[in-house]
Amino acid sequence: MTNSSPQNARLSMRQRDCFPNSWISSNSCNLLLPAEISAGKWDFILNTHLSIPLPCTSPRWRCQKKEDAQKSNRFNFAVDVGCGSGQGTVLLAPYFTKVVGTDISQAQLEMAQTNSKPPNVSYRQSPAEELPFANSEVDLVTAMTAAHWFDRQKFLVEADRVLKPGGCLALLSYTMNMGLEYEDKSEALNDICKEFYAALLPFRDPYLGTDSGKIYSDMFESCSYPDKEWNESFHVKKTLPLDSYIGMVQTFSSFQKLLKKDPEEARRLSDDIRTKLLSAMKVSSPETEVTVVIKYFYWLARKP
Ligand SMILES: C[S@@+](CC[C@H](N)C(=O)[O-])C[C@H]1O[C@@H](n2cnc3c(N)ncnc32)[C@H](O)[C@@H]1O
Repeated sequence: MTNSSPQNARLSMRQRDCFPNSWISSNSCNLLLPAEISAGKWDFILNTHLSIPLPCTSPRWRCQKKEDAQKSNRFNFAVDVGCGSGQGTVLLAPYFTKVVGTDISQAQLEMAQTNSKPPNVSYRQSPAEELPFANSEVDLVTAMTAAHWFDRQKFLVEADRVLKPGGCLALLSYTMNMGLEYEDKSEALNDICKEFYAALLPFRDPYLGTDSGKIYSDMFESCSYPDKEWNESFHVKKTLPLDSYIGMVQTFSSFQKLLKKDPEEARRLSDDIRTKLLSAMKVSSPETEVTVVIKYFYWLARKP
């Protein structure tokens, strides 16, 4: 299918707006997945990036690998909705017999296809609101930093349709206000970061409101499954060059909107923030490593 396929023709303006070129042309949002989301109560661990079992922290938390999963028959089929380049999709592969990533964007799926993937992973183009699966077929429906773009109520109904009884819905995302740590200068750096985020706020899609956490907590509230769990403070730290941090913020849809509207202002803003951060760090190289603190939230719910 090409970009002019009926699927893409159905994209609303809002949905089209949510595909910054950076998502399509690079893997720059790689850094935006948490190192691990452990959800052992739910009998699986979304152990993204590290792909190693986590130590059990409580008796009800357990780590399952594919062999155990097959035995228990509860890890047959996972669907990663809004899979983008597939960076999270592939990380489910060790835990499930079959994993399918779905996305509305053909360009994203083409990128996912070119990235290496285990043999039990495949991709399909589909809107989140009309998943191409039978009723009660899926063990895990997940969406990683994607559900805020969906028609949320329709997606919840659709996830409920495809999930098996006992199946799990797991949604995760992160807040825009990432923190920075560097020696004893963290406080000063965070003040500068706040300035960066505040400058981008007017360019945030009105559909998202000011707080994407609220979108997810509203979705959580509206999910009728009695067995559910919300966690809004799951912090993941990544050490990376200062310029990569700036590159991460540049992938935000609000920055991309500013870039489209006023490229010069977008460049001025990121140059200004880089200069201020370097000065506060008392270093000259933007390759100097800082620790980025990404604030994730997630929720899980089990279909009765
Ligand atoms: C920020 S990216 C996240 C991609 C991936 N989950 C990750 O964590 O890297 C959001 C993705 O949601 C997809 N998307 C947006 N609206 C969608 C919809 N209604 N149905 C399916 N996918 C959608 C976009 O195409 C994009 O690939």
